[in-house]
Amino acid sequence: MDIQICKNYENLSTKACAHVSGQIAKKENSVLGLATGGTPEGMYKKLVEQHRKGVLSFQQVTTFNLDEYIGLPANHPLSYRVYMKDRFFSKVDLSVVNTHLPDGQAADLTAECARYEALLREAGGVDIQVLGLGHNGHIGFNEPGTPFASTTHIVELDGKTREANARYFDKKSDVPKKAITMGIETILAAGEILVLISGADKAEALRDMLYREMTTEFPATALQQHPNVTILADEQAAKSLH
Ligand code: F6R
Repeated sequence: MDIQICKNYENLSTKACAHVSGQIAKKENSVLGLATGGTPEGMYKKLVEQHRKGVLSFQQVTTFNLDEYIGLPANHPLSYRVYMKDRFFSKVDLSVVNTHLPDGQAADLTAECARYEALLREAGGVDIQVLGLGHNGHIGFNEPGTPFASTTHIVELDGKTREANARYFDKKSDVPKKAITMGIETILAAGEILVLISGADKAEALRDMLYREMTTEFPATALQQHPNVTILADEQAAKSLH
């Protein structure tokens, strides 16, 4: 794993943007795997800036997001579809038909998981997958205990994850209890993985991801077996590394 320590969040976001734009420069019809949450927001801002400067186009790009809540209408302000639309999709020249998220409102959720997984394969797989890291080691919404051989599936969200995400909702009880997520095997199938980690509260999780023996109890340890992982961590997140 290539670990790059960035001075601060701004610097991390700039590097993440450069990494993704570099991928698009190499292959204009790249397939990007995308994450929501707080950490990649700076990267999306920088990508939008690059697009506005006229130096980056997403016209040929396809995107697949990691996950979506179950039960929130797609136009709900806290759905991941709306997060992506507000911060990124509507601000660049991506064609909406090339932007994919699992449908958390599908009548048959099991069939939806299979459809999403098949669509990813049809697109030729993800070239670069952007990930954040959960305090409990989750990647996507793969909570502790998820088998490494998992593909896109339905998950019951961990209490800690619902607590962390409650900051966006009026109250914790409003946070959906379930989601659809790419599985760990799905994530590991990406050609390259870019993990963004910011803040002192993630220091322990980053250390565990790197140094703990691979275990389903800490899903991010699965990344140790991937041949092409870049970690961008700010100094706060890297403070427990030596
Ligand atoms: C988001 C996702 C999650 C987040 C993780 C970190 O699509 O799948 O795994 O990346 O919960 O979230 P933040 O960045 O808010 O700390």
